[in-house]
Amino acid sequence: MKITKVSAVALMLILASCGNDEITDAEVKSVTEVKLDVETETETEKVTELVEIELKSNDQMQYDQTELKVKAGQEITLTLVHTGEMLKTVMGHNFVLLKEGTDIAAFSTKAIAAKDNDYIPEGDEIIAHTGLIGGGESSSVTFIAPEKGVYNYICSFPGHYGVMKGKFIVE
Ligand code: CU
Repeated sequence: MKITKVSAVALMLILASCGNDEITDAEVKSVTEVKLDVETETETEKVTELVEIELKSNDQMQYDQTELKVKAGQEITLTLVHTGEMLKTVMGHNFVLLKEGTDIAAFSTKAIAAKDNDYIPEGDEIIAHTGLIGGGESSSVTFIAPEKGVYNYICSFPGHYGVMKGKFIVE
């Protein structure tokens, strides 16, 4: 919006200057400077948008949130907390954000076979994921929010995705 406004002002200045037949270097330079300043400001706003999300999970095989909303391009640090007491071998949880169009059931079946890698299978379905944790533990992951859309997140521990799932909405 700001850039559009400045461009309009710049255009008006140039049009006005045309009437005088002479555009002095000083005029051109000042218009350019204004435009650069605005662009720099917009850039800074983007970089400083860091969002922290805390997602809790428990011994009842539940996440405390089944809908998370962010904006495209935001830097997200998501921390998964396990508020229960059970071991990760019995009630392990993670947060796995999947690309659009991923077949959750097929992915989860593949994850069961990846026990040695904390149930994170090989492939390109994952946008971001935390580590696998047990009661009293937590794990964080930092990533850039993908383009606008609705993405699924699940816990890939065997048998959990049916209940432990949610929508990651990027606006
Ligand atoms: Cu789980």
